[in-house]
Amino acid sequence: MDREELPPTILVVFGITGDLSQRYLLPALAEVCKSANLPKDFKVLGVSRRDVSVADVLGGNKKTLGKFTELFQMSLDDAGGYSVLKKKLSIISRQMDGRPQVIFYLSVPPAAVLPIVRHLGQAGLNHARHKLLLEKPFGFDLESARELIAQTAKYFPENQIYRIDHYLAKEMVQNIVTFLGSNALFRDVWSSRFIEKIDIIVAEKIDIEGRALFYESTGALRDIIQSHLLQLAALTLMEPCTGVFDYAELPGRRLIALNALKVDMEEPVIRAQYEDYRREVKNPDSATETFVGLTLESEDPRWQGVPILLASGKNLNDKLTEIRVYFKKKENSEANRLALRIQPKEGIELDLWVKEPGYERRLQQKHLAFNYEQHYERLPDAYERVLLDAIRGSQSLFASSGEVLESWRILEPIQQKWSMDNRDLQFYQPGRTIEEVLKLV
Ligand code: BG6
Repeated sequence: MDREELPPTILVVFGITGDLSQRYLLPALAEVCKSANLPKDFKVLGVSRRDVSVADVLGGNKKTLGKFTELFQMSLDDAGGYSVLKKKLSIISRQMDGRPQVIFYLSVPPAAVLPIVRHLGQAGLNHARHKLLLEKPFGFDLESARELIAQTAKYFPENQIYRIDHYLAKEMVQNIVTFLGSNALFRDVWSSRFIEKIDIIVAEKIDIEGRALFYESTGALRDIIQSHLLQLAALTLMEPCTGVFDYAELPGRRLIALNALKVDMEEPVIRAQYEDYRREVKNPDSATETFVGLTLESEDPRWQGVPILLASGKNLNDKLTEIRVYFKKKENSEANRLALRIQPKEGIELDLWVKEPGYERRLQQKHLAFNYEQHYERLPDAYERVLLDAIRGSQSLFASSGEVLESWRILEPIQQKWSMDNRDLQFYQPGRTIEEVLKLV
């Protein structure tokens, strides 16, 4: 969509001084602004309970964002504040060219989300031109997610809600759809007939980075598996999108893939914590996992019998997000492996067997590789896409309520098992590889 076609927009940032907004949203906004992709008529209204200055809030982004940013001080739990906010928004609207859409971005702790949604609804700030841009977690299990979704739906219909899963907006994750839809060679072998197994991993080098309170109530299963990893699985397993494809169909296709998935409880589920974690969170009994490994199975006939390993952990040897597809070894031939590298060094790698030069007939495994950085100067950050798509009104790279519920449904057996006892918790030394931790069970 051309910049000229973008509707006038007010972005209201609740918790503008918070970590998410400072680390991701504002820098992404500055990038989109520099590349002249924001609507011509655009305003940011930062909401904060503290009395802060625009310069303090925007920091290094002031030069780019300062010209259209204003602050509004209010207490988030004061109903009266929302009426004043409404008046403020109509004053800003009148200064704009036409009636603007208003996007409420909630960069607030999970417990603050529903009260804000209610206040917005009760103040009448939920008409068709008002959108909610929400950060995960969307609940902490199936039941709480159902409740959150039902309560939110009382005030905002689904087509006004944008649930961020920033993995969906990563360039290489978007490319999974293109890769499978546009390369007939792979599309035709994309099934259990040719594929032996699939591993999807998100390894992180960072630890919990001081977020003890958040992480203690979250853990790797909720933080990464329920959202990012299950979305990667859905994109890998869904019906490929061929020809002139309407991207609005994407959430529906991901949902069908999720519907067919369940955890294979016969396979080991690895629940591990890095050594020193308990000291870091000051809880000597903590059973919170910083690493999870589990195997999924799909009831979709296309994928029957193909194990799908999901693994993710913090404080490992390196940062790596990758989807590894292992093709079957056929009679008289070797097996091939395809790796979709999500980050870092985004790209695609295929293992091939070649003849080792010389007088003997010996095989060697080599890689055929495509790297984004060799061909393109810059990959936009996921939050840039998130913002632009919310402005454009495109929900294809956001998680629908159905997807959120399905992902909790898939994990329910593990959550139930873990809630009963934690004797299966393993410990690993920081700096281990994902494969080393997977071998703990
Ligand atoms: C977030 C998690 O959703 O994703 C963090 O809450 C995690 O714990 C982060 O570190 C990883 O994102 P990225 O883009 O750095 O891979």
